Amino acid sequence: MTKLNIKKLVALCAIIPAVLSAQVGNDDPSAEQGLIGDLVNMPTSNLTSAGQLLRFWLLHVGSAISNNKLSQPECATDVCCPWYAIADDLTQLFVDPATQECTDDARAAVRLGFHDAASWSKKLSADGKDTGGADGSFILFREDERPENNGLQGFVTKILAVRAKHPGVSAADLIQFAAHHATVSCPQGPRIAFFAGRVDATEPSPPGLVPDVHDSSQNLINLFMDKTINAADLAALLGAHTSAKQFHVDEGQATKPIDSTPGIWDTNFYNETLQSNATDGVFRFPSDLLLSKTEHVAVAWEGFVGEQSKWNEAYALAYTRLGLLGVNKINDLIDCSNALPPHIPDAPGAIGGQKRRRRNLYH
Ligand code: HEM
Ligand SMILES: *[C@@H]1O[C@H](CO)[C@@H](O)[C@H](O)[C@H]1NC(C)=O
Ligand SMILES: *[C@@H]1O[C@H](CO)[C@@H](O)[C@H](O)[C@H]1NC(C)=O
Ligand SMILES: *[C@@H]1O[C@H](CO)[C@@H](O)[C@H](O)[C@H]1NC(C)=O
Repeated sequence: MTKLNIKKLVALCAIIPAVLSAQVGNDDPSAEQGLIGDLVNMPTSNLTSAGQLLRFWLLHVGSAISNNKLSQPECATDVCCPWYAIADDLTQLFVDPATQECTDDARAAVRLGFHDAASWSKKLSADGKDTGGADGSFILFREDERPENNGLQGFVTKILAVRAKHPGVSAADLIQFAAHHATVSCPQGPRIAFFAGRVDATEPSPPGLVPDVHDSSQNLINLFMDKTINAADLAALLGAHTSAKQFHVDEGQATKPIDSTPGIWDTNFYNETLQSNATDGVFRFPSDLLLSKTEHVAVAWEGFVGEQSKWNEAYALAYTRLGLLGVNKINDLIDCSNALPPHIPDAPGAIGGQKRRRRNLYH
């Protein structure tokens, strides 16, 4: 450090409030470091909370060691804070370390996000029964005991354990965050923006609002229209079956996947449902076969074959709508997408390799 620089720094230190400069103060002038960057000339009235904190730390006041992402009291003022730790826990459940594909818990989380949110009706709402939707009722009132939700009991137990570990967040948000996390945990899955602030249910959701795999295409289309989800959005959302397996439609064929690559969020599902015969080892839902050939849905469906990014964009928009059904505080939600893992553009084994990519998640 030259003499000139030291002079400048000493001059700067003279304008720091006496109390702070006393803490920095040292008889050795080369110990004076002072402020740097834009903080040098920043009036204190312009300081943001980050600026204030960093100013103190640059002046050696207070502790710059942070462990507040991990404990609730320090999280109290940062809505997004708890989601980082929750994301770490969910990664353990959703990513298979051996294959780097998404797991059975991930597919269950996507289905859970759908079933919690979908139990809302525009008509019932207009008739004064604006309950259900993405309100956490599924796990708060154990709706996994309803027959149409069969198969989700195991994952509900796991997500309730995550909730017990992180009590600061709503069950409604936790279910949707898990669905977003699970989706992006599948290679090629979209990283759908996540907003927190949903309010928890005080009663179970209305029954009968979850689709039946044996229903007619017209009934299914009407059911989704009553959730404000149109045919094109329905076509996009049904692509979630790219990650699905079935356990209870035909129990003799339990664990069969709904496309040939259930660990990857690819467009094979769209292609494979359009073929005259099922791909070996793949189970096809009657409702998917019907809807894939129904006017309006069919056009969008065919348009997603081999069109990964087109489908990801459509899915992300359609799922955003789905995840906001029954939410009446949308304007107050806060973007906590930063807590989500990164998008994985390639299938495992493709150039670059997934192991390396996943290692730089949040740390
Ligand atoms: C017409 C609409 C739909 C019908 C009839 C339907 C029906 C089903 C059925 C019967 C299963 C198998 C459950 C089992 O046997 O364990 C299933 C699984 C699944 N569904 Fe759907 N579904 C529909 C729409 C959706 C939507 C919109 C999403 C997501 C946005 C979705 C996501 C999933 C997922 C991820 C699974 C796999 C669950 C697992 O493997 O544990 N489904 N669906
Ligand atoms: C501080 O804020 C005032 C008023 O907003 C603004 O005019 C000035 O440019 C700011 N100074 C700096 C260094 O940002
Ligand atoms: C579909 O399956 C049937 C019956 O197994 C078989 O006769 C037919 O050749 C198959 N069609 C195609 C296109 O593979
Ligand atoms: C769709 O599947 C068929 C039959 O497996 C295959 O021949 C065709 O190449 C696939 N098309 C796309 C776009 O993946």
